[in-house]
Amino acid sequence: MLFKIVKATTLAALFTTAAIAADFNAQAEIDKENITKYFEAKFSDPEKNRSTFFPYSTTEELKNNFIKGIKGDEFSKGGYAFSKNGRLSYDEIKEFPPTEEFVEKGEELFNEPFANGKSFKNCFPDTTIAGSYPFFDQESKKLVSLTQAVNECLVSNSEKKWNEKKGKMAHLQAFLAQETADAEKRVDIKIESKEAAEAYERGKEYYFTQRGYLNLSCATCHIQGAGQRVRNESLSQGLGQTTHFPVYRLKWAAGNAANDGLGTLERRMSGCIKDQGQVPPKNTSETMKELLYFMSYLSNGLPVDGPDIRK
Ligand code: HEC
Repeated sequence: MLFKIVKATTLAALFTTAAIAADFNAQAEIDKENITKYFEAKFSDPEKNRSTFFPYSTTEELKNNFIKGIKGDEFSKGGYAFSKNGRLSYDEIKEFPPTEEFVEKGEELFNEPFANGKSFKNCFPDTTIAGSYPFFDQESKKLVSLTQAVNECLVSNSEKKWNEKKGKMAHLQAFLAQETADAEKRVDIKIESKEAAEAYERGKEYYFTQRGYLNLSCATCHIQGAGQRVRNESLSQGLGQTTHFPVYRLKWAAGNAANDGLGTLERRMSGCIKDQGQVPPKNTSETMKELLYFMSYLSNGLPVDGPDIRK
């Protein structure tokens, strides 16, 4: 009995000291831990775990297409973390990464002076920041995404906004992602207020809400469905989905020369939502930023490894 009381009081003491800094992200930490555990269990041995996690996959698929036992940092590779087939073509393209020229273009844009003589350097004195967005701005009580921050920088310097999905916006973000990856930084999303925690919860709700005539949620495909094959693609797990943007996709490189194949995270998200027959939220809407906030929080601690390539 005494032992119990002592234990409870020390615990309570621990919590009161921890509460100041850690309280607001308590739920998010629990979510992150549960989801990480779920994926680690799921991908530990897909063939063995068939009845629990992969009731609809073929034996051939379970035997031949899985890298077993993925953990920790490996999740930042998205679907290529576990898919042997995906990984083969990925590693091949990575030998001569088509993203290098975009990083160079992004660096030029970063250093190029605006008409007023200032440049992006004035807005982003630190270039290793790709893992810290979206962040919750306590003053405006709103989330700020990287895409939004870039356009706000342009506008505050009397320049025109850029397209939020591709072109210069994607190039500049490729440079920032590369700088962040070179500095070996990790995703670092913070929830430090009640309002920030509420924004996170709204993002989570969006992620788990079923929509459309097929009644699917993001989680249906990217949590429960992760690892399963849809046509010739394996569904990536919702852990490490945001770490590697912007990405170059062959699909985006088709057509006229303006489509150089590089796109922002917002572009990819919108595509995925449109594929489900839904109207995606606008790129810098609260809904989009909240969704990104939730997804990025789950990837906290994973290495930033953009820009990358995707099918
Ligand atoms: C019907 C299944 C399905 C649903 C529902 C779905 N997706 Fe996807 N998603 C895919 C497929 C297929 C891909 C391409 C393969 C992959 O990377 O998972 C993909 C890719 C992605 C990617 C790119 C991952 C990467 O590493 O490049 C993101 C981000 C994403 N989806 C977000 C979402 C979000 C957010 C939702 C909910 C609003 C959602 N998806 C709902 C099937 C789905």
